[in-house]
Amino acid sequence: MPRALTPEQQAVVDWPGSAAVTAGAGTGKTELMAERFAAHLLRDGFRPLQVVAVTFTDAAAAELRSRIRRNLQARAAGLEEQLAELEAAPIGTLHSLCKRVCDEHPTHAEVAPGSRVLDEGEAAAWIAEQLDDALSTTDAAHFGRDGVPFSLAREALRAFLGDPLTADLALRQVPDGLDEWLARCQTLFT
Ligand SMILES: Nc1ncnc2c1ncn2[C@@H]1O[C@H](COP(=O)(O)OP(=O)(O)O)[C@@H](O)[C@H]1O
Ligand SMILES: [Mg+2]
Repeated sequence: MPRALTPEQQAVVDWPGSAAVTAGAGTGKTELMAERFAAHLLRDGFRPLQVVAVTFTDAAAAELRSRIRRNLQARAAGLEEQLAELEAAPIGTLHSLCKRVCDEHPTHAEVAPGSRVLDEGEAAAWIAEQLDDALSTTDAAHFGRDGVPFSLAREALRAFLGDPLTADLALRQVPDGLDEWLARCQTLFT
């Protein structure tokens, strides 16, 4: 049998709805997540491909998958099929989950076949390139004396791209017309 969970860990494994666990490093969060995953298989009857587990890093995902594997192997025999399917279960980073969903629904996602998730460095370089392209094709009249200073526009857009959710929220609240709004911003900065 796998190691006994503490009552606190067991309570989260047994909790039927959403649960948020806040605890320090090394306190057993990954262990309880592995057991919660196992409970969805053994108690709730889901297949490994039907349970999604999201982590921040690939390393954490690999660790979680190996703990689930170990904990299933420590139980009774007869779980060979579940163990085989576990290797393909959607346990990974949010990016890898999104990629998986896009690959499974290419038409709706409008994602080209063969696309891949960029790593952080590649993503930063890609965004910088796109930003330069976008700025170089923007009407020069928007910048300089009668518009937003070029360097300010560039920095503002860079900040926006770094936090797309807030940028989207901000742009949704722009009253009527971006030009008017930008003009007001300009008076704040100059
Ligand atoms: N209930 C438990 N009994 C014994 N050891 C445990 C228990 N829960 C976790 N551990 C062990 O403690 C260590 C840290 O647990 P882990 O789940 O990796 O913590 P966290 O994810 O919070 O950093 C691991 O070696 C794990 O196997
Ligand atoms: Mg952990």
